[in-house]
Amino acid sequence: MAAKILLDTLNPGATISRHIYGHFAEHLGRCIYGGLFVGKDSNIPNVNGMRTDVVEALKKIKIPVLRWPGGCFADEYHWEDGIGENRKRMVNTNWGGVVEDNSFGTHEFMELCRQLGCEAYICGNVGSGTVREMSEWVEYLNSDSDSTTVQRRWANGHKEPFNVKFWGVGNENWGCGGNMRAEFYADQYRRFQTMCRNYGDNKLYKIAGGPSDDDWHWMEVLMQNCKTMMDAVSLHKYTVPKDWTDKGSATEFDGDLYLTTLRKAYDMERVVSGHETIMDRYDPERKVGLIVDEWGCWHNVEPGTNPGFLYQQNTMRDAMVAALSLDIFNRHAGRVTMTNIAQTVNVLQSMVLTEGDEMVLTPTYHVYDLYTPHMDAALLPCAVQSPVLTGDVHQLTATASQKDGVTTLTVSNLSADEACEVVIDAVGIDLTGAEGRILTGEVHAMNTFENKENVTIQPLTGIEVTAKGLKLTLPACSVAALTLHG
Ligand code: AHR
Repeated sequence: MAAKILLDTLNPGATISRHIYGHFAEHLGRCIYGGLFVGKDSNIPNVNGMRTDVVEALKKIKIPVLRWPGGCFADEYHWEDGIGENRKRMVNTNWGGVVEDNSFGTHEFMELCRQLGCEAYICGNVGSGTVREMSEWVEYLNSDSDSTTVQRRWANGHKEPFNVKFWGVGNENWGCGGNMRAEFYADQYRRFQTMCRNYGDNKLYKIAGGPSDDDWHWMEVLMQNCKTMMDAVSLHKYTVPKDWTDKGSATEFDGDLYLTTLRKAYDMERVVSGHETIMDRYDPERKVGLIVDEWGCWHNVEPGTNPGFLYQQNTMRDAMVAALSLDIFNRHAGRVTMTNIAQTVNVLQSMVLTEGDEMVLTPTYHVYDLYTPHMDAALLPCAVQSPVLTGDVHQLTATASQKDGVTTLTVSNLSADEACEVVIDAVGIDLTGAEGRILTGEVHAMNTFENKENVTIQPLTGIEVTAKGLKLTLPACSVAALTLHG
């Protein structure tokens, strides 16, 4: 029997914030250095040091926001080391023990965001920084007074304030950010955020460092003690196919491990719902957002690469995890205001891999490309009826949305080996046809430097108009985006 999707255009729900499609770039491995930033003197084509090929690729998927400088790095980062001349060299103790020369700092990050046309999300240092240091970073970035701190910004070539809005107060402060207890962090949060001031018309959107996974206690303590002082709280949850000691290869896995990966990714539904329930108890009006600012597949590093650099390949399995996760976030758009997949280039579940002056777009990149119509669109109720694939995961996962009169359905067939016939019907429009694009490939399929276009988006063909709705067959392991006509 065909699977069914019934969407309802008469009852649009929350707006799917474009920030749900956000990204994260840490001083880790080759994410910043070599991946995004090569320096002005590089032979690799660049504008003010930023790789032109990578910037153009990210602009194509309309990157809305970029989180920086970490991650664990954020709580060892001292922003004054990364401005002006004669920058301090430091050991990046979290990631490979390499020397960080601070050549990519505040001005370079803001220049990168300018070129990308995206918003900046800066994560400040609580673990090893001071309240004064964080407070002065905000002043340096956003004030237009002629204070000594702002005069330094002018001297470094930027007269206008940067007006950074998204401000994180520490990262994983339960772990690498200081091994704090929830109660201690909550007090630290209250103190640090007090000194992060608004300048001019720019109002900071303050983000408290939240729990990992299903640490309900951390969320409870934060909501109890800080809810009136924060705009959002962060959540970190990775999909680790095996376990933290042996996460499993990014490219070699069997059918069982594929299904395990999907079940683990789908656990995001339970974790987001659980935190939402706690947040609803303290904040029924949903004023405080939930920001999943680190998520994605975490595999073993590619053989022969630096274990501290977290460089992994990316297959259609990762693409399916991306689609499944983005659908969960979209369904929770009433509370989830941003997410940042980890990490943009060359680290974990990245969009882009680079080798010297070469660049490869990953299957995950193409999923983000297919989902762009959902950015800032109204979420439409969408009932999906399809067989159970494994655990609570069904064969199909979907999101429907509407913006400017355009109705978009993204639907994925998560089965690694079975095609799925789907009938799509809609309340509120008589469907007369659709056009679409599709990403599909064998579950291990990936793009390499030898075969860069092995997995790419293709036109979607074979959509029939029937009395029961639109009918099409989704190949195994596929993500489709349809613009519905009616
Ligand atoms: O994304 C890699 C690391 O994972 C981050 O630095 C840290 O916040 C998390 O544990």
